[in-house]
Amino acid sequence: MKPRDPKSVEKLFESISHKYDFLNDLFSFGLHRLWKKQLVSLLAPSSGQNWIDLCCGTGDLTFHLAKSVQPFGSVLGVDFSHSQIDQARKRFFADPSLPVSWLKKDVLNTGLQSGSFDGAIMAYGLRNLENPEAGLKEIYRLLKPGSQAGILDFNHPIEGSKTSYFQKFYLRRVVVPIASLMGLRDEYAYLEESLKNFPEGNIQKEIALKIGFNEARYELLLGGQMGILLLTA
Ligand SMILES: C[S@@+](CC[C@H](N)C(=O)[O-])C[C@H]1O[C@@H](n2cnc3c(N)ncnc32)[C@H](O)[C@@H]1O
Repeated sequence: MKPRDPKSVEKLFESISHKYDFLNDLFSFGLHRLWKKQLVSLLAPSSGQNWIDLCCGTGDLTFHLAKSVQPFGSVLGVDFSHSQIDQARKRFFADPSLPVSWLKKDVLNTGLQSGSFDGAIMAYGLRNLENPEAGLKEIYRLLKPGSQAGILDFNHPIEGSKTSYFQKFYLRRVVVPIASLMGLRDEYAYLEESLKNFPEGNIQKEIALKIGFNEARYELLLGGQMGILLLTA
């Protein structure tokens, strides 16, 4: 699969949508829930605000945010995968009072009005974009001045470091073999591929400041395996 090719990425997420949540829990030992909670609490969304969850997938963060901004705020989940949004909609029926809505679009081309949101969030999306810098630019465009964005993703550790060694070992020796048993070898082998040209946290900060964000901070999680980029527009 061509890294970051939008059509291939869309196809990949279409094909794994039925197993996505299960495998997320399995491969992270449920820790992705904790990191997502941590991300939301760092951003501290408040009641009445309007947020956007870019690359929302099955809606984990969309629902999480919605609980913080309800009853007068709202959260828009955006994803280009029909099946992922479909799964999110199914989950929504479990709690239809939450103020969420969905948009099936490429996050690099949302067509949404500039300065529409009080906050933006993205988990495990930036690394998959054709151009991560364009993703940060789009986030900046969508935010009201002074508002916040939080981006959770794999960190890209320095090549040759212990962190990098462990990450490669885990992806190659644990993730790919287990995914293979479910017929999803290539889909999960793509994880390592997607990290190859993904900028390291400090570079992400520099890119964000160059785009125009006023503040940028990067926090490492799980000994540097993951990271959270926190931005103020
Ligand atoms: C790894 S999943 C993360 C889903 C969710 N945020 C989570 O953390 O559980 C990445 C999601 O990004 C979506 N995605 C990737 N590139 C995209 C793009 N250019 N536009 C919209 N969605 C995209 C995929 O369809 C997929 O649902």
